[in-house]
Amino acid sequence: MNEDLTAYRRYFPITQRYAFLNHASAAPLSTRVQEAMQRLIGARVTGEDLSTDGEAIVVHLREMCAELVGGEPEEIALTRNTSHGLNIAANGILWRPGDNLITAQTEFPANVYPWTNLSRKGIEVRFAPAPDNRILVEDIEKLLDERTRLVALSFVEFYTGYRNDLTAIGQICDDRGIFFSADAIQGLGALPLDARAAKLDFLSTGAAKWLMGPIGTGFFWCRKEFTEHLIPAVAGWRGVVDTDDYFRYDSPLRSDARRFEEGSPNVAGLWGFEASLSLLLEVGIPRIEAHIMALTDYLIVGLQDRGYPIISPIASRSERSGIITFLPKSGSAEELHQSLTEADVVVSQRGPGIRVSPHFYNTGEDIDRLLDVLP
Ligand SMILES: Cc1ncc(COP(=O)(O)O)c(C=O)c1O
Repeated sequence: MNEDLTAYRRYFPITQRYAFLNHASAAPLSTRVQEAMQRLIGARVTGEDLSTDGEAIVVHLREMCAELVGGEPEEIALTRNTSHGLNIAANGILWRPGDNLITAQTEFPANVYPWTNLSRKGIEVRFAPAPDNRILVEDIEKLLDERTRLVALSFVEFYTGYRNDLTAIGQICDDRGIFFSADAIQGLGALPLDARAAKLDFLSTGAAKWLMGPIGTGFFWCRKEFTEHLIPAVAGWRGVVDTDDYFRYDSPLRSDARRFEEGSPNVAGLWGFEASLSLLLEVGIPRIEAHIMALTDYLIVGLQDRGYPIISPIASRSERSGIITFLPKSGSAEELHQSLTEADVVVSQRGPGIRVSPHFYNTGEDIDRLLDVLP
């Protein structure tokens, strides 16, 4: 275990009481996020900050979001959540009735409704199966035809933590001129992702899970070649070139992804997001991934030793992420979740499974606290 990361626990007072292993739900905030948000609020209370956009911080945030996905700041629109970004893509493509798109049967609903909402435009949504909770590249390929315009998948599946082979799927999409969209919320902040190398066209995420930012913040990345071709599904005064000319109604849209930022941003939230992302990049995503993988290795062995069935695909490390989901040996998932909650071990119950999702500041002792509760 990469124990030198324990120094960062001081930013997470939640560790004083809880074994918090629930980053696939909503992460606790660090004191660095708290300080940043309080600084902004304090400055606005006293009048020290009279600006309306918190611009310097927001510029830095945009740069870091770009760095995180291997993109450029011009390709980043700051959004409210994952759904916001997915809808910008879904409603921005010039669809033709009879077109189809492909997603999978194991997607979180956030990555389904923006697409099924297109049925009113005559678009068919096809769902790839997930045998043994794995989405196979060949199953995606089988669903493609000459009317397929887009593939929309999660970077990491929310229930089992299965890490999709974005590079292989992206190559297939690229070869056939099909758009490729990722819901990246269950991976970004925990695992490296190079959006361009994966041949993605759009990527959407919220900040409140593995990115450890405030709920209600996120970003959308759009490959710059497409930015100007997406129909602006949201349009507004802050998305145009002459934002500050309040007497003009015919300013062109900005050429970069800020064209999708229609109105005033959630400044306090973005200040918090800037602080959370600064901390993650300071630690380094490859280091974070290595630590999370070591913690989940340890968890897997502990569960297997005690005879608990693991439903996350774990045969190959490349298919794993920060999420491990297992089934109770006896009794219900509700009962087991209740016992864990009473012991201050925070995890999620999802259907019949218990989902565990540690982050970089967790330790082997946090995992032990979970294992100790198991009957
Ligand atoms: C894969 C996935 N996408 C999206 C979301 C949330 O969507 P949003 O950020 O729009 O609330 C979740 C979990 O809440 C999720 O697991």
